[in-house]
Amino acid sequence: MAKVRHSRLQARKWSTVTLVLSMLFMLSVVLLMLLGLGIFSLPINNDDSAPNDLTSYRRMASERGKGLGKRGEQWTEVLSWEPRAFIYHNFLSKEECEYLINLAKPHMVKSTVVDSKTGKSKDSRVRTSSGMFLRRGQDKIIRDIENRIADYSFIPVEHGEGLQVLHYEVGQKYDAHFDYFLDEFNTKNGGQRMATMLMYLSDVEEGGETIFPAAKGNISAVPWWNELSECGKQGLAVKPKMGDALLFWSMRPDATLDPSSLHGLLPFFSL
Ligand SMILES: *[C@@H]1O[C@H](CO)[C@@H](O)[C@H](O)[C@H]1NC(C)=O
Repeated sequence: MAKVRHSRLQARKWSTVTLVLSMLFMLSVVLLMLLGLGIFSLPINNDDSAPNDLTSYRRMASERGKGLGKRGEQWTEVLSWEPRAFIYHNFLSKEECEYLINLAKPHMVKSTVVDSKTGKSKDSRVRTSSGMFLRRGQDKIIRDIENRIADYSFIPVEHGEGLQVLHYEVGQKYDAHFDYFLDEFNTKNGGQRMATMLMYLSDVEEGGETIFPAAKGNISAVPWWNELSECGKQGLAVKPKMGDALLFWSMRPDATLDPSSLHGLLPFFSL
């Protein structure tokens, strides 16, 4: 008898526990439904500048690097996978191109190349242009451009070098070379160069193509094949167009050096 009473008591206790649990369960389901329908929201970051709000992040990213002037229609073209190279059309506005040219013009000196033994700059016959370096984050417009490069390359702006403005006269060129370093001086001081973004600041009449002589794939499949100079048809070539940018990677995704990133700048001619 005592035994029976005991178990009946326990059964009542258990049913109370079950009732409480199922009520809690129902409450969570209702809360989840409200959350799901957006009727109710958890009070996380309800201030104006919610850092976890994706819309505000997207707005920040698009306002960042808005830059000078109005850019034409922007679209990306995959140029090649070996080397990894992409063309960003209308990366710079006409005003930004002119701004960079005018900023650099009074400071142009004959270009040098990095000596592969000492890592120091040296004069060279393989590169016959003139150029100058801008300081990183030099002014608002430069910062905007640098941020844009960071956004497109997925490499933080702090990892970038200062922009270099180059000027090629008729007949000047830069023979095929790698952008990655093979010397200890540079790889230890600042690390390996992973990628390069070339931005074309003016249009050219003839020649002046950036060429990848070691690119894999069908080099004659580019839509501009018929517009290329005879030299330009010796490799995968990109015709310079004001405002366009060419991003290519000197390293593969596994951080090994990519010899197919060999590239040069062909001499251009006036018609
Ligand atoms: C390369 O591309 C061009 C243009 O699309 C095509 O006519 C040609 O047959 C291709 N060559 C090869 C070897 O696939």
